[in-house]
Amino acid sequence: MKVEHLDGVTFGSVVTEIDLETLNNEEWDELYELWIERALLIFPEAFLSPEGQDEFAKRFGDLEFPRAALSNIGKDGKVHHQDDDEVVKSLRGNEGWHHDSTYMPVQAKGAVFTAEIVPSSGAATGWADMRAAYDELDPEIRDRISNLNAYHSLYYSQGRAGNLPDKQNDDGTYNLYGYHDMEVSLRPLVKVHPVTGRPNLLIGRHAHDIVGMGQEESTKLLDDLNDWACQAPRTYHHQWTVGDAVVWDNRRLQHRGTPFDMTEPRRMWHTRIAGEPSSELAINHQDDAIPSDLVERHPTGTWAC
Ligand SMILES: [Fe+2]
Repeated sequence: MKVEHLDGVTFGSVVTEIDLETLNNEEWDELYELWIERALLIFPEAFLSPEGQDEFAKRFGDLEFPRAALSNIGKDGKVHHQDDDEVVKSLRGNEGWHHDSTYMPVQAKGAVFTAEIVPSSGAATGWADMRAAYDELDPEIRDRISNLNAYHSLYYSQGRAGNLPDKQNDDGTYNLYGYHDMEVSLRPLVKVHPVTGRPNLLIGRHAHDIVGMGQEESTKLLDDLNDWACQAPRTYHHQWTVGDAVVWDNRRLQHRGTPFDMTEPRRMWHTRIAGEPSSELAINHQDDAIPSDLVERHPTGTWAC
């Protein structure tokens, strides 16, 4: 196993000379430790099999959902590219910095993400280190935000960017993943990582309406924090090659998609690793309040944010 840290960035390593589908215990221990330390591991041209991708993800924890396509290619093979297309709107939404599933009762622990079909240009995925951002934050701002909580909602983030689906149910929900009808998740702006014990910012496009603050002030504070936090040397964008695989720690990093010519096909595969309720449960949710059929009622299909 050969490890090279990303140059000039506060996180991330490229790992080669390893077969992710036949890891022995020693290799796994080393890899897990590296993941905790570096938060993003990149495996160039790993070519994980569909089963191998989920099996690798399961080493990190239970799955929030198994391997799902993140793609502009429809089930009929048609490439979706029109601005008002539902698939396009979902993908565009992903271009805002975010932590996955902060809008769910339990925030995701991480994800394994692989590239099957890559367009000729664009479509890089970016990550941003919210631990380094917290560490480098102006002490006055750090004090100001230390006890603040914000709501996290996919209705909010997709609505703000003009990307809500067209087809709405009578009760205002949508039959798509993340648009649940439960209480909107409330989360701290500063969260301690359950393994490292290090604090990091928990912000991004799903965060809105800080408790006890006017809407305008809250939006400005969250936007300013996000703009400042997601800058070099705390960001890295990976330009994909077919077969590449990555795994990231969603508790520490934000991520985003970047634009590409959507007349060209792109297909990525995303396996989402569930967060542990002991550390990733929203402040206002209790374990027993999460319906066991939440994922089934809101299928992922080609959708994942
Ligand atoms: Fe995402």
